[in-house]
Amino acid sequence: MSTSASLSGLRLVVSAGPTYEDIDPVRFIGNRSSGKMGFAIAGAAARRGAQVVLVAGPVSLPTPADVQRVDVRSAAQMHEAVLAALPADAYIGAAAVADFAPAQAASSKIKKQAGQDSMTLTLVRTRDILADVADHPHRPRIVVGFAAETDHVEAYARGKLEKKRLDLIAANRVGMAGTGFESDDNALTVYAADGAVHALGPAAKTQLADALLDLIAQRLTE
Ligand code: CTP
Ligand code: CA
Repeated sequence: MSTSASLSGLRLVVSAGPTYEDIDPVRFIGNRSSGKMGFAIAGAAARRGAQVVLVAGPVSLPTPADVQRVDVRSAAQMHEAVLAALPADAYIGAAAVADFAPAQAASSKIKKQAGQDSMTLTLVRTRDILADVADHPHRPRIVVGFAAETDHVEAYARGKLEKKRLDLIAANRVGMAGTGFESDDNALTVYAADGAVHALGPAAKTQLADALLDLIAQRLTE
């Protein structure tokens, strides 16, 4: 599946994992990203000789060899760390970034009141890291997004490709047994801004990482 094109001399920034948005000191809003896909991409890129910065949300994964890892927790922290890692030749946004976060985390534990049978949390939109990278004065030559969808996968993925001005978007269906979040395997359909479509897998995330890097390397060396 892989031709293992060299990425020597190139700098890649990869984001991976979930973000946690704190509600109070003991509670947060998170999501089901394991970080495996992004970590696999970062590790594979380093093995091909790239200089890799991996901005990781809260995950329990070892740092791949020769990768510079920056740990973050929230979407706001991830936004800051990713932009601080530019300029780069490519950005691969594999993180599952929270779309909304509590406007402010409570400084002490929120207590329920006697007789209280519901509660309302006000959430505010987070900034779109991928769109901001694609719009940045130091825009990487290749900006790659992911789209995990439960339905209308192609239409939603193509919409994000265009709206966020990406070069590639790797789409997958989530919710099926054995693929997507938390799993070691996945299947991706990659849509390119130039119209190309590539079906990758089903395969191990490590193999998919290599196949995706081939597409990126091709475009970086064109
Ligand atoms: N993304 C990002 N910053 C955000 C939200 C999403 O960088 N605040 C990135 C993700 O890392 C992913 C891509 O955008 O690469 C698509 O994420 P997804 O959640 O599928 O798309 P959204 O644009 O957030 O749309 P929605 O969740 O409504 O489907
Ligand atoms: Ca989202």
